[in-house]
Amino acid sequence: MRMYDLIMKKRNGGALTKEEIFYMINEYTNGNIPDYQMSAFMMAVYFKGMTEEETVNLTMAMAESGDMMDLSSIDGLKADKHSTGGVGDKISLVLGPMVAALGVPVAKMSGRGLGHTGGTIDKLESFPGFSTSLTTEKFIENVNRIKIAIAGQTANLAPADKKLYALRDVTATVDNISLIASSIMSKKLASGSDAIVLDVKTGNGAFMKTEADAVALAREMVQIGTGAGRNTVAIISDMNQPLGFAVGNALEVKEAIDTLKGEGPADLLELAVVLGTYMLLGVKRFTDEEKARAALYKTIEDGSALKKLEEFVEAQGGNPEAVRNQDLLPKASIVMEIKAQEDGFVEKIETDEIGVVSLILGGGRETKESDIDLSVGVVIKKKIGDAVEKGETVAVLHGNDLKKMEQAKERFMAAYTFSKSPVTRDALVKWIISDKGTKKY
Ligand code: URA
Repeated sequence: MRMYDLIMKKRNGGALTKEEIFYMINEYTNGNIPDYQMSAFMMAVYFKGMTEEETVNLTMAMAESGDMMDLSSIDGLKADKHSTGGVGDKISLVLGPMVAALGVPVAKMSGRGLGHTGGTIDKLESFPGFSTSLTTEKFIENVNRIKIAIAGQTANLAPADKKLYALRDVTATVDNISLIASSIMSKKLASGSDAIVLDVKTGNGAFMKTEADAVALAREMVQIGTGAGRNTVAIISDMNQPLGFAVGNALEVKEAIDTLKGEGPADLLELAVVLGTYMLLGVKRFTDEEKARAALYKTIEDGSALKKLEEFVEAQGGNPEAVRNQDLLPKASIVMEIKAQEDGFVEKIETDEIGVVSLILGGGRETKESDIDLSVGVVIKKKIGDAVEKGETVAVLHGNDLKKMEQAKERFMAAYTFSKSPVTRDALVKWIISDKGTKKY
């Protein structure tokens, strides 16, 4: 078999066989197929798509490219959650500790920033000393001991996705249903949780811009998860504006900590509770939705989720003191306010552009080898429907390079549209998709 022929087959709209897909993924993981050929293949998939059968085979080839984690030595049913990627999406930092504080094991594998979106692994590295490179033994030990572990893919879990994810990030080949579904589900299947909750974002800050595409992606992932014997549910949630206010690694960590203290944005907490509810139902910790919601809110009120975050940070080598003292987190040296030019109401936010603003400030990778600046980003002060007066602060940029900040400011201002009349907001949670079908939330 030759990679050249597989690229050609896909470029011409053909469907690859199971053997061809496994060959390609194994050889790429082993370093025998170079990045440039895989980039060409990914771009061909972007334009020509993959069949459902190809997507399942790609998922399985990537899941089996490394260790398939056996979590049977962890007591009880394990829960996991994954987002398809958004702007300001720091949900895992809030949700993980909340669910773990209720005694439910959270065994999660996360990714780095992708395209204009951020990644949980980068965010967690804002805690000085924090390590996401856990061995399988350490991962299991932590989940058994404190009920939560979040790892990157260094523990030989889905290494094919690790390589492909980094490649797609810098080759404009992220937003394709088959590539996203196989990327997410390969990690979820390899990391062995019993209940999987998928947060599928839709809107101008998501990879799936339309609800129809988001629903199609969700259905494909639910089908793959259910087919592999995992209890899988997908929630379709709004990404027509950033989640919460902060966008940028350490800034998002601070907002997540505030949320666990009960002082965070309402939309962030609401979505964490919805996703958490389905995690708790998925592992049968509760059968009643209202009881699950109440239990999750209680972890904020009684401080147990915040305490769990401290334990989690410490267990992965980070400084837990940074949860109590945010001055220990990375901090940018320059702060620049962006003021409204006119009175009105926020009508529309080009959310992916807000992600790009954070990238321009240094929060994302230009190439696979780039280092990122964890301290930079933007904190928006006005969201859709909010009234704004001329001269009021719409956002605050945090950066370390004035030239980049001027560029980011220009891009930011073009991302906001104002209206003279009041504007209504979209619902945050739209659809729930399971093997039983699709229902309106
Ligand atoms: N999250 C992932 O893990 N992979 C994708 O392709 C998109 C979001």
